[in-house]
Amino acid sequence: PEGERTQDLLSRMTLEEKVGQMMQLEGRGDRLSELIQGRHVGSILHTGPDDLPRALTMAVEETRLGIPLIVGDDCIHGYSFWPGATIFPSQLGMAVSWDPEKVRQAARVTAEEVSATGVHWTFSPVLCIGRDTRWGRVDETFGEDPLLIGDLASAMVKGYQGGARAGQPLPKDAIMACAKHFAGYSETQGGRDASEADLSHRKLMSWFLPPFERVAREGCGSFMLGYEAIDGTPVTFNRWLLDEVLRGQWGYKGMLVTDWDNVGRSVWEQHIEPDYTRAAADAVKAGNDLMMTTPQFYEGALEAVRTGLLEEGQLDQAVGRILAVKFRLGLFEDPRLPDRERIARVIGCEEHRRANLELTRESVVLLRNNGSLPLKTSTSGRLALVGPLADEAQGQLGDWAGASGQVAWMRQGQPREMITTVRDGLASLLPEGWQVDYAKGADIITMVEDPAGPTFPDGQPRPKIAQSAPTDQAQLDQAVQAARRADAVVAVVGDLVQLVGEGRSTATLELMGGQKDLIRSLVAVCREEGKPLCLVLMSSKPLVLPAEADLADSLIWAPSPGMEGGRAIAEVILGLTEPSGRLPISMPRHVGQLPVYYNRIRGQHGSRYADLTQDPAFVFGQGLSYTTFEYGQPTIDGGSGPFTPDQVIHVSVPLTNTGDRPGVEVVQAYVKDLVTSVTWAERELKAYRRVGLKPGQTVQVHLDIPVSACSIVDASARRVVEDGEFDLLIGHSSREEDLQAVRFSVTGADTI
Ligand code: IFM
Repeated sequence: PEGERTQDLLSRMTLEEKVGQMMQLEGRGDRLSELIQGRHVGSILHTGPDDLPRALTMAVEETRLGIPLIVGDDCIHGYSFWPGATIFPSQLGMAVSWDPEKVRQAARVTAEEVSATGVHWTFSPVLCIGRDTRWGRVDETFGEDPLLIGDLASAMVKGYQGGARAGQPLPKDAIMACAKHFAGYSETQGGRDASEADLSHRKLMSWFLPPFERVAREGCGSFMLGYEAIDGTPVTFNRWLLDEVLRGQWGYKGMLVTDWDNVGRSVWEQHIEPDYTRAAADAVKAGNDLMMTTPQFYEGALEAVRTGLLEEGQLDQAVGRILAVKFRLGLFEDPRLPDRERIARVIGCEEHRRANLELTRESVVLLRNNGSLPLKTSTSGRLALVGPLADEAQGQLGDWAGASGQVAWMRQGQPREMITTVRDGLASLLPEGWQVDYAKGADIITMVEDPAGPTFPDGQPRPKIAQSAPTDQAQLDQAVQAARRADAVVAVVGDLVQLVGEGRSTATLELMGGQKDLIRSLVAVCREEGKPLCLVLMSSKPLVLPAEADLADSLIWAPSPGMEGGRAIAEVILGLTEPSGRLPISMPRHVGQLPVYYNRIRGQHGSRYADLTQDPAFVFGQGLSYTTFEYGQPTIDGGSGPFTPDQVIHVSVPLTNTGDRPGVEVVQAYVKDLVTSVTWAERELKAYRRVGLKPGQTVQVHLDIPVSACSIVDASARRVVEDGEFDLLIGHSSREEDLQAVRFSVTGADTI
């Protein structure tokens, strides 16, 4: 019936109405009627709460056909711009949990909150692979591994869409998900955002496409196309990727939206189109449905049809897909105006904040500990809490929250009382008798106008760039004095939202401002006076710490941990929560090592640096507990095979908690294909499981690995499982010394 309704609507739409339906523009204030009635736009984005009710009503009540709008926004880790919404850790922070179910719950919470506000669609999740951490959007990724990315993205889509499968209607408290940025956007040059991506089809198929394929097949409602060009063709115009792969091979039926002005950029920035008429025609022919913020698309597409560059039938396909999404959301029956009662009841409610805290507890990773954590707090004492991130409430929320908003209504930040900083967390959780002395200790950056920055066509001022702030001796002295008076020291260092986000990549990963001097001074005092120093890195992405940081007694990383971050970190420091996070991304030793990731191609004998060890500071999968675990020998049901590609390998491994505290281990299984017809990764993650164990407890951990998952992409760009021997490697991290091997073989292999 929806197909019939779509056809019926299409038959009644004018050419202008069809072209307008394919446009998504920023709409606020007086412009709304020009966009909705004058240009018939099908979608708006970033429309604040003041304008949204009018926009939604105008579309259904004051346009000829009453076609409802679909409203999109960047609700990336919670509806960050909505005051009082539940703000979770960044995607990278969530990925530290290796817990798809908790991530699904976070997306469910976000959907319940966002759907109450009149927004129908979130531009989330990000399925890009974070390899070069200078890139400003690494915090928006789930890290560096395609399997983990696919699992967490799939969970997030299910959470947003209320579990609706491909084509099924979405419940009222669900929102449409958007898998982005399709595909290869993160493969940057020098870490710079939206740069040319050096990707062959084979490389794309090997690592970058699999997570997208998964959510496409599972019914993610929309896909957003990246900014970048692959082999000279911007993704927006890449028929191979959109038509052949996404819609053809994967059978994707959802809606494609461009990123910000991708169509316009082909004219004014990339200069691959002579004018907007050709750009519009080529974008439609390549398979795009909705053009984000390219106002010139309207005249361009009309002209393209008039001059025969485009056929109206080609527009019909795109418009049909947009209308199908609106039917799927039930917008024709209910345009989903903001619901005051639900807004008051669900946004930032107790239950949502609890779900946030539970996920945030798992989004903290302990990277080093000489036994000084958990902090011994049995008697009274004094804690020095220092560092510019120790009490930086808005900063700990990360990107797409507060200060980084693109338009004024988004920049208001979140209510201070909803955010727990580390200072708040420690102050409330330390036993009575403990006193917290706080000192900021250092500034991070100052913002200055970039004299060589780009100029914009509409006369906006040149962008500002961040400069490392000078060490402020008075601040440093205060922190050192606090440390001298204390029994234990916690230092919280990191970066700020000005150093992360779209168009905000960094050339360096080093701690900026006076933070390095702060760490050096604290290390010196703590060693001299024999008191424990806990370093907490609260940063959007992996940063490089100064060498002296190795002398700190413990190190915790909490990537943009959101509203509950300070509480979760304090709980870990005090041992009220067992640390259970694991790295979803490698932490480099030096910015010059980038890109650094565990599943790199093997056999690059000359790839070592003469002046630096090859290994990152911390590897993918790494993370400590307060207890210890011992793995036994893994065994495969049915022995070593041979297995055929249609089979599933059931492997089990005995795991013992050998310490005296309960703990959670993330059991990781990697596969190494001993001989491959093309060069390939040394090992790849194929399964994992979070397992909780009491002290002394032993369990058999079972993992299932489909043989088809042990595939590679061969020289003809076909995904195949090849006959031969494989090692199944199970253990604590991606490091060879952390893994126990069991061998199996495969026969009768074929293309997948
Ligand atoms: O959703 C984002 C995208 O990730 C980057 N460019 C702007 C879009 C809309 O805000």
